[in-house]
Amino acid sequence: MLVTRREMTSSRLREFGTTIFAEMTALAQRCEAVNLGQGFPDTDGPASLLAAARQAIDAGANQYPPLAGVPELRLAISHQRASRYQTEYCPDSEVAVTAGATEAVAAALLGLCEPGDEVVLFEPYYDAYAAAIAMAGAVRVPVLLRPGRAGVFEFDPAELRSAVTPRTRLILLNSPHNPTGKVFTRAELELIASVCQLHDIVAITDEVYEYLTYDGAEHVPLASLPGMRRRTLAVSSAGKTFSVTGWKVGWACGPEPLVKALLAAKQYLTFAGGTPFQLAVAIGLQQAGAWSAELRARLNQRRDQLRYGLEAIGLPSYPCQGGYFLQADVRRTGFADAISFCRYITEQAGVAAVPSAAFYDRPETGRAIARFAFCKRQEVLAEAVARLATAPWHATSTAC
Ligand SMILES: Cc1ncc(COP(=O)(O)O)c(C=O)c1O
Repeated sequence: MLVTRREMTSSRLREFGTTIFAEMTALAQRCEAVNLGQGFPDTDGPASLLAAARQAIDAGANQYPPLAGVPELRLAISHQRASRYQTEYCPDSEVAVTAGATEAVAAALLGLCEPGDEVVLFEPYYDAYAAAIAMAGAVRVPVLLRPGRAGVFEFDPAELRSAVTPRTRLILLNSPHNPTGKVFTRAELELIASVCQLHDIVAITDEVYEYLTYDGAEHVPLASLPGMRRRTLAVSSAGKTFSVTGWKVGWACGPEPLVKALLAAKQYLTFAGGTPFQLAVAIGLQQAGAWSAELRARLNQRRDQLRYGLEAIGLPSYPCQGGYFLQADVRRTGFADAISFCRYITEQAGVAAVPSAAFYDRPETGRAIARFAFCKRQEVLAEAVARLATAPWHATSTAC
């Protein structure tokens, strides 16, 4: 229904109105496609974690938690960062629990940026970043990740250095990285750290895939490098580590002034939420190492299953060292761009993927790449590959 003739969506958010994700999700539903577009696991997390949430509800933990999160979870996060990465945070003043990593990043940007401040980030990037930067009135400055040696995505140090200006407020880093599957190396992180220190820049690090690394790749938090703890907000969440993406329990750790800035925004966004889930994650984090080892092994196997399956039908993929996603080059199928490829496979083969152009400011760069999620059951991946194998690549697309 038309309310008035005025454009309703604010100018800050207009460019995010209809995304390729929304289009592909709708198309996938219409075509009843096997959905390898969205990155959520199709099996639940550990049974004892789910039971802990139920017990917390039964025990009456059903009202607002404190703004910064329940003390049990803040303590568990502080222990996890100390034991896994040797980085110490005070649970009372240096840890904040959020509605997923997404809110942590958004609240940090809102709390730290002045209008017009610049935020350097690596492109392609998780799509929520661009919208959060826009809501903060800040300006995104992308640095390109390109396939380098053996297809692993890399950045040009000179491009990073020249992206920094007197208006740069912070660098937003995601490792392990969505969508490329890249795990930033220690040498790359040292370079990023030196740029932060030289220009007195803050870093926000999105580490939601911190446990999900493969082939010996090691996740090194930027905050664990010398001199970086004092200028970094380290963000993570329970969603990927415990396969409970719907719980939306995330957190940020950092020096008190950065956590305070985040909380200043967060208290007027969601304030706080998910009390029983926070309590369950507090228990879960104590066993994260053992649980995630099993999950990592399973995902490693799924990644290989999908990679070999795709390769056999003319879809070679880039190396994936971490996270949930494989990026495949679609050109051998006869498609020059992955947007039409993804529409085609959804309609013709009943398999949904996401064109990686959706993660770029300069979509040309990711034009021929499609992103497939492998955090799915073995039989689902097998079905997806079998369906793709029957698709006549060169046929023209017709609506299903
Ligand atoms: C890089 C990255 N950050 C954050 C998120 C979302 O995390 P959460 O569900 O904890 O908000 C995702 C989910 O796909 C992601 O890929």
